[in-house]
Amino acid sequence: MTDRRQFAPATERNRTPILETLKAWLPESGTVLEVASGSGEHAVFLAPNVKPLKWQPSNFDPEQVNSVTDWIAHSPSENLLPPVRLDVTAAVWPVEAADYMDHPITAIFNANMIHISPWRTAEGLMAGAGRILSEGGRLYLYGPFKIDGEHTAASNIKFEAWLKSLDPEFGVRDIEAVRTEAAKHNLLHKATKPMPANNFMHMFEKA
Ligand SMILES: C[S@@+](CC[C@H](N)C(=O)[O-])C[C@H]1O[C@@H](n2cnc3c(N)ncnc32)[C@H](O)[C@@H]1O
Repeated sequence: MTDRRQFAPATERNRTPILETLKAWLPESGTVLEVASGSGEHAVFLAPNVKPLKWQPSNFDPEQVNSVTDWIAHSPSENLLPPVRLDVTAAVWPVEAADYMDHPITAIFNANMIHISPWRTAEGLMAGAGRILSEGGRLYLYGPFKIDGEHTAASNIKFEAWLKSLDPEFGVRDIEAVRTEAAKHNLLHKATKPMPANNFMHMFEKA
Protein backbone atom coordinates (compact mmCIF):
# COMPACT_ATOMS: atom_id res chain seq x y z
CA MET A 1 0.00 0.00 0.00
CA THR A 2 1.23 3.53 -0.74
CA ASP A 3 2.59 5.47 2.19
CA ARG A 4 1.05 8.97 2.00
CA ARG A 5 2.87 10.35 5.04
CA GLN A 6 4.38 13.80 4.57
CA PHE A 7 7.43 14.94 6.54
CA ALA A 8 7.92 18.43 7.97
CA PRO A 9 11.39 18.48 9.58
CA ALA A 10 10.62 21.51 11.79
CA THR A 11 8.07 19.43 13.72
CA GLU A 12 10.87 17.28 15.15
CA ARG A 13 12.61 20.39 16.47
CA ASN A 14 9.59 22.18 17.93
CA ARG A 15 7.41 19.30 19.16
CA THR A 16 9.04 18.81 22.59
CA PRO A 17 8.92 22.50 23.61
CA ILE A 18 5.33 22.61 22.31
CA LEU A 19 4.42 19.57 24.42
CA GLU A 20 6.02 21.01 27.56
CA THR A 21 4.11 24.28 27.14
CA LEU A 22 0.79 22.62 26.35
CA LYS A 23 1.09 20.25 29.32
CA ALA A 24 1.07 23.21 31.68
CA TRP A 25 -1.99 24.75 30.02
CA LEU A 26 -4.21 21.88 28.81
CA PRO A 27 -7.58 21.11 30.39
CA GLU A 28 -8.07 17.87 32.33
CA SER A 29 -10.76 16.35 30.15
CA GLY A 30 -12.43 16.52 26.77
CA THR A 31 -11.07 16.70 23.25
CA VAL A 32 -8.30 18.91 21.85
CA LEU A 33 -9.04 20.01 18.30
CA GLU A 34 -5.86 20.55 16.30
CA VAL A 35 -6.55 23.00 13.48
CA ALA A 36 -4.28 22.61 10.42
CA SER A 37 -2.45 19.46 11.51
CA GLY A 38 -0.25 19.58 8.39
CA SER A 39 1.69 16.34 8.01
CA GLY A 40 0.23 14.88 11.24
CA GLU A 41 3.61 14.56 12.98
CA HIS A 42 2.58 16.90 15.80
CA ALA A 43 -0.62 14.90 16.32
CA VAL A 44 1.08 11.51 16.64
CA PHE A 45 3.73 12.93 18.97
CA LEU A 46 1.47 15.05 21.17
CA ALA A 47 -1.60 12.80 21.52
CA PRO A 48 -0.03 9.91 23.48
CA ASN A 49 1.54 12.45 25.84
CA VAL A 50 -1.70 14.21 26.77
CA LYS A 51 -3.93 11.28 27.78
CA PRO A 52 -6.68 11.04 28.94
CA LEU A 53 -7.50 13.93 26.60
CA LYS A 54 -8.62 12.93 23.12
CA TRP A 55 -6.83 14.51 20.15
CA GLN A 56 -8.78 15.50 17.03
CA PRO A 57 -6.52 16.32 14.05
CA SER A 58 -7.86 18.27 11.07
CA ASN A 59 -6.68 19.61 7.75
CA PHE A 60 -7.91 21.78 4.92
CA ASP A 61 -5.86 20.04 2.23
CA PRO A 62 -7.16 16.51 1.38
CA GLU A 63 -3.63 15.24 0.75
CA GLN A 64 -2.68 16.34 4.25
CA VAL A 65 -5.77 14.58 5.63
CA ASN A 66 -4.34 11.43 3.98
CA SER A 67 -0.92 12.12 5.48
CA VAL A 68 -2.42 12.33 8.98
CA THR A 69 -4.38 9.11 8.39
CA ASP A 70 -1.19 7.29 7.42
CA TRP A 71 0.80 8.78 10.31
CA ILE A 72 -1.89 7.52 12.69
CA ALA A 73 -1.76 4.05 11.09
CA HIS A 74 2.02 4.11 11.56
CA SER A 75 1.98 5.47 15.15
CA PRO A 76 -1.45 4.75 16.65
CA SER A 77 -2.67 5.97 20.01
CA GLU A 78 -6.10 5.10 21.42
CA ASN A 79 -6.87 8.77 22.14
CA LEU A 80 -6.07 9.85 18.55
CA LEU A 81 -9.21 10.38 16.43
CA PRO A 82 -9.34 10.07 12.63
CA PRO A 83 -8.62 13.46 10.96
CA VAL A 84 -11.49 15.61 9.74
CA ARG A 85 -11.42 18.00 6.78
CA LEU A 86 -11.71 21.51 8.18
CA ASP A 87 -11.48 24.89 6.47
CA VAL A 88 -11.21 27.50 9.22
CA THR A 89 -12.96 30.08 7.04
CA ALA A 90 -16.13 27.94 6.83
CA ALA A 91 -19.16 29.28 8.71
CA VAL A 92 -19.65 25.88 10.35
CA TRP A 93 -16.87 23.40 11.17
CA PRO A 94 -17.45 19.61 10.95
CA VAL A 95 -16.91 19.25 14.71
CA GLU A 96 -20.02 21.41 15.20
CA ALA A 97 -22.26 18.80 13.50
CA ALA A 98 -24.94 17.24 15.70
CA ASP A 99 -23.57 13.76 14.97
CA TYR A 100 -19.95 14.62 15.90
CA MET A 101 -19.04 11.97 18.47
CA ASP A 102 -16.25 13.49 20.52
CA HIS A 103 -17.79 16.50 22.25
CA PRO A 104 -16.90 18.48 24.23
CA ILE A 105 -13.97 20.21 22.56
CA THR A 106 -12.32 21.85 25.53
CA ALA A 107 -9.22 23.20 23.76
CA ILE A 108 -7.98 24.10 20.28
CA PHE A 109 -4.34 24.02 19.12
CA ASN A 110 -3.11 25.69 15.96
CA ALA A 111 0.52 25.90 14.85
CA ASN A 112 2.06 27.84 12.01
CA MET A 113 -1.04 28.69 10.00
CA ILE A 114 -2.03 32.34 10.29
CA HIS A 115 1.22 33.76 8.88
CA ILE A 116 1.30 31.44 5.89
CA SER A 117 -2.27 32.02 4.74
CA PRO A 118 -4.41 35.14 4.20
CA TRP A 119 -5.59 37.08 7.27
CA ARG A 120 -9.08 35.63 6.81
CA THR A 121 -7.77 32.37 8.32
CA ALA A 122 -7.01 34.23 11.56
CA GLU A 123 -10.53 35.67 11.44
CA GLY A 124 -11.98 32.20 10.75
CA LEU A 125 -9.92 30.58 13.50
CA MET A 126 -11.12 33.07 16.10
CA ALA A 127 -14.73 32.90 14.93
CA GLY A 128 -14.70 29.08 15.04
CA ALA A 129 -12.95 28.92 18.42
CA GLY A 130 -15.48 31.44 19.74
CA ARG A 131 -18.38 29.27 18.53
CA ILE A 132 -16.98 25.95 19.72
CA LEU A 133 -15.33 26.63 23.07
CA SER A 134 -17.36 27.01 26.25
CA GLU A 135 -16.44 29.39 29.05
CA GLY A 136 -12.90 28.55 30.22
CA GLY A 137 -12.07 26.71 26.96
CA ARG A 138 -8.62 27.51 25.59
CA LEU A 139 -7.02 28.26 22.25
CA TYR A 140 -3.25 27.78 21.87
CA LEU A 141 -1.63 29.57 18.96
CA TYR A 142 1.96 28.75 18.02
CA GLY A 143 4.21 30.50 15.50
CA PRO A 144 6.17 33.70 14.81
CA PHE A 145 4.55 37.02 15.74
CA LYS A 146 5.41 40.71 15.62
CA ILE A 147 5.17 42.79 18.78
CA ASP A 148 4.12 46.47 18.43
CA GLY A 149 4.58 46.17 14.68
CA GLU A 150 8.21 45.04 15.01
CA HIS A 151 9.77 41.71 14.17
CA THR A 152 11.25 39.92 17.19
CA ALA A 153 14.29 38.69 15.23
CA ALA A 154 16.23 39.89 12.20
CA SER A 155 15.73 36.48 10.57
CA ASN A 156 11.96 37.08 10.55
CA ILE A 157 12.44 40.04 8.18
CA LYS A 158 13.78 37.65 5.54
CA PHE A 159 11.14 35.11 6.45
CA GLU A 160 8.38 37.67 5.92
CA ALA A 161 9.83 38.70 2.54
CA TRP A 162 9.72 35.03 1.53
CA LEU A 163 6.10 34.71 2.77
CA LYS A 164 5.09 37.78 0.73
CA SER A 165 6.81 36.33 -2.35
CA LEU A 166 4.48 33.34 -2.01
CA ASP A 167 1.41 35.54 -1.57
CA PRO A 168 1.25 39.24 -0.66
CA GLU A 169 -1.60 38.39 1.76
CA PHE A 170 0.72 36.19 3.85
CA GLY A 171 2.81 37.73 6.61
CA VAL A 172 4.00 37.50 10.20
CA ARG A 173 1.04 38.81 12.22
CA ASP A 174 1.20 41.40 14.98
CA ILE A 175 0.04 39.87 18.26
CA GLU A 176 -2.03 43.00 18.93
CA ALA A 177 -4.08 42.46 15.75
CA VAL A 178 -4.57 38.80 16.70
CA ARG A 179 -5.58 39.79 20.23
CA THR A 180 -8.12 42.29 18.88
CA GLU A 181 -9.59 39.69 16.52
CA ALA A 182 -9.83 37.13 19.33
CA ALA A 183 -11.58 39.59 21.66
CA LYS A 184 -14.38 40.04 19.08
CA HIS A 185 -15.28 36.41 19.87
CA ASN A 186 -14.89 36.62 23.66
CA LEU A 187 -11.46 34.98 23.55
CA LEU A 188 -9.19 36.77 25.97
CA HIS A 189 -5.41 36.71 25.64
CA LYS A 190 -4.18 35.18 28.91
CA ALA A 191 -0.56 34.12 28.46
CA THR A 192 2.48 34.23 26.19
CA LYS A 193 5.42 31.84 26.23
CA PRO A 194 8.53 32.59 24.15
CA MET A 195 9.53 29.44 22.27
CA PRO A 196 12.75 28.38 20.51
CA ALA A 197 13.63 29.77 17.06
CA ASN A 198 11.86 33.11 17.65
CA ASN A 199 8.41 31.59 17.97
CA PHE A 200 5.75 32.11 20.63
CA MET A 201 2.89 30.18 22.13
CA HIS A 202 -0.11 32.37 22.94
CA MET A 203 -2.98 31.20 25.09
CA PHE A 204 -6.51 32.59 24.78
CA GLU A 205 -9.42 31.70 27.04
CA LYS A 206 -13.12 31.94 26.32
CA ALA A 207 -14.81 34.37 28.68
C1 LIG B 1 2.94 25.60 7.48
S1 LIG B 1 1.59 24.50 7.57
C2 LIG B 1 1.59 24.11 9.30
C3 LIG B 1 1.20 22.68 9.56
C4 LIG B 1 1.42 22.20 11.01
N1 LIG B 1 0.48 22.81 11.93
C5 LIG B 1 2.84 22.41 11.46
O1 LIG B 1 3.10 23.26 12.34
O2 LIG B 1 3.73 21.72 10.90
C6 LIG B 1 0.21 25.56 7.35
C7 LIG B 1 -1.10 24.81 7.32
O3 LIG B 1 -2.20 25.73 7.27
C8 LIG B 1 -3.22 25.11 6.51
N2 LIG B 1 -4.26 26.03 6.07
C9 LIG B 1 -4.15 27.04 5.16
N3 LIG B 1 -5.36 27.60 4.96
C10 LIG B 1 -6.24 26.94 5.76
C11 LIG B 1 -7.65 27.02 5.99
N4 LIG B 1 -8.39 27.93 5.35
N5 LIG B 1 -8.22 26.18 6.89
C12 LIG B 1 -7.47 25.28 7.56
N6 LIG B 1 -6.14 25.13 7.37
C13 LIG B 1 -5.54 25.94 6.48
C14 LIG B 1 -2.44 24.47 5.36
O4 LIG B 1 -3.22 23.52 4.67
C15 LIG B 1 -1.25 23.88 6.12
O5 LIG B 1 -1.54 22.58 6.59
